[in-house]
Amino acid sequence: MRLCAVYPGSFDPVTNGHLDIIRRGSRLFDRIVVAILSNPEKKPQFALAERRKILLKATAGIPNVTVDSFDGLLVEYARRCGAQVIVRGLRALSDFEYEFQMALMNRRLDSNIETVFMMPSEAYSYLSSRLVKEVARLGGRVSGLVPPEVDRRLGDGLARRRRGAASSRRRESRFQKRKRG
Ligand code: PNS
Repeated sequence: MRLCAVYPGSFDPVTNGHLDIIRRGSRLFDRIVVAILSNPEKKPQFALAERRKILLKATAGIPNVTVDSFDGLLVEYARRCGAQVIVRGLRALSDFEYEFQMALMNRRLDSNIETVFMMPSEAYSYLSSRLVKEVARLGGRVSGLVPPEVDRRLGDGLARRRRGAASSRRRESRFQKRKRG
């Protein structure tokens, strides 16, 4: 039997921890579909098209991988793909409760689909998309933690915000000068 897995997530943005799981999954399964949640209610920093483009580039050299997006119930998407497995990464004990709940709910919704947890390399066990965005927003270095494309885009965003902040400081100082006469 050919084993197909879905690896779902927000990937906002994809990190090297995600890519580590994708590489491990591609060795285990005949096909692994990286499925980006397209739900705009989560207000992602990276638009869906951007996340898809980055993932396509970052996974180009990994065999058996396809990139797609989905909305609605994950198990329904997995069924449409013909996947028997949902892959999730487990970094630390703190991930466990949420992942356990999701796995059991998904099993209740479709008992034919099995959730398989995979551990990334310990080098990425503290890594999350949320932390990467926070560090980058505050001007910290994230190279080595994310693919170069993400690093570049986060850097561009920071430069844009800094230019915006500098120009509003200049506007404010002109306004104060005029007020003083
Ligand atoms: O990267 P994330 O944000 O931890 O991924 C969460 C994701 C996309 C796996 C989860 O939110 C999800 O499966 N959403 C689809 C809706 C769904 O099926 N909800 C019920 C899951 S129990």
